[in-house]
Amino acid sequence: ARWGLRVASGRLAVEEVALAEIAAAVGTPTYVYGAGEIAARFHALARACRSHPTLIAYAVKANSSQAVLAHLAQLGAGADIVSGGELRRALVAGVPADKVVFSGVGKLDEELDAAIAAGVRAINIESVAELDRVAARARALGRVTSVALRLNPDIDPDTHPYLATGLRESKFGIAMADAAGVAARARALPELRLCGLACHIGSQILDESPFLASFERLCGLVRALRADGAPLRQLDLGGGMGITYAPADRELDVERLGAALTAAVAPLGLELVLEPGRYLVGSAGVLLTRVIGRKRSGEREFVIVDAAMNDLLRPALYGAYHPIVPVDLAAGERPTIRADVVGPVCECGDFLAQDRLIAPAEPGELLAVLSAGAYGMAMASTYNTRPLAAEVMVRGGELAVTRPRKTVDALIADEQLPAWLAR
Ligand code: LLP
Repeated sequence: ARWGLRVASGRLAVEEVALAEIAAAVGTPTYVYGAGEIAARFHALARACRSHPTLIAYAVKANSSQAVLAHLAQLGAGADIVSGGELRRALVAGVPADKVVFSGVGKLDEELDAAIAAGVRAINIESVAELDRVAARARALGRVTSVALRLNPDIDPDTHPYLATGLRESKFGIAMADAAGVAARARALPELRLCGLACHIGSQILDESPFLASFERLCGLVRALRADGAPLRQLDLGGGMGITYAPADRELDVERLGAALTAAVAPLGLELVLEPGRYLVGSAGVLLTRVIGRKRSGEREFVIVDAAMNDLLRPALYGAYHPIVPVDLAAGERPTIRADVVGPVCECGDFLAQDRLIAPAEPGELLAVLSAGAYGMAMASTYNTRPLAAEVMVRGGELAVTRPRKTVDALIADEQLPAWLAR
């Protein structure tokens, strides 16, 4: 149950649908999402924050598939978006605009226009220059728009260096020392309504103390800005709540985190906003793959599978660990071997696991790559002209294909030749 998996009638399953059945129906590689696990995660976080008005704005970037978005929207989630594309996806999936917050360090004018016209809840401002630009776009549209200042609280969250965004030297956010000046400027611009403060210190954080430390800094700033008369109404902690990847990973204690956060904002009378991505969908997704073959090179043993770095980039990009288990439970009883699990892509970096103790999988057998629901499909590409993996969602005993596999001809049909080459 730890990774959203179950054993149903002796077979590995997501909810009540056996993974082998999904592979037979849809082929591989395929991302399988459990609707129940997503709902359970959403409810756990909502429950942890129940004592205070809280908006859970799902970070769309973690998994922007329409089925996932629509599912979360129906549960009551808002959306944290970082592009006009994500705004469009969220609105189409049924997220109300007043539950959308717009983050990101490089927002385009046309993206700002779309967000202002839609009436998003807040645009999280990253710099003075951006503040002025948002005001200018709102003026051009004849609108007043709500903004929050994204601050850089200068907190080290103890995570992968690529995932730590709240350090002073990172490109994200406004320095704490500049906050009062930027806030004053925001309040002087009639097109803007300064509605709150925001931060995001990083991703895959399993310890609640860095969250609380940055929140404390923001709460202090709220008091100072209020003393100046700023009408703040929300405090946005960002995302970053971590999940279990390696068996030794501890679980983030969301109950404790939620209790501490709501206790911090309650005296300020501010609404709490959270932007979790991975926490809501990471453990709900499995990448289902089939073994193509085995190979030995010198001392190294390879299990070659039909999923690759283009399907799941995290191991190649961050050295990330994803558990890999055989779908046939009996195979799990075989004495383990030490092997690399690799894909067919022509790169040495194309691995899903390195130097891993696993059950020896034979050609044709299925493997499940776990904790793959976040930043899996969202970061996939068609490198090596490999069509994107299919996606399915399971709810109880129901199976829905939410992204059918494309043919190579469909990929080619997306392009066109210059006239001088067409014949
Ligand atoms: N809010 C902001 C402003 C963010 O930049 C992010 C993630 C989130 C929320 C959601 O963070 P989460 O709750 O999912 O940790 N590709 C990397 C993760 C990059 C995260 C970028 N920002 C990975 O595969 O681990």
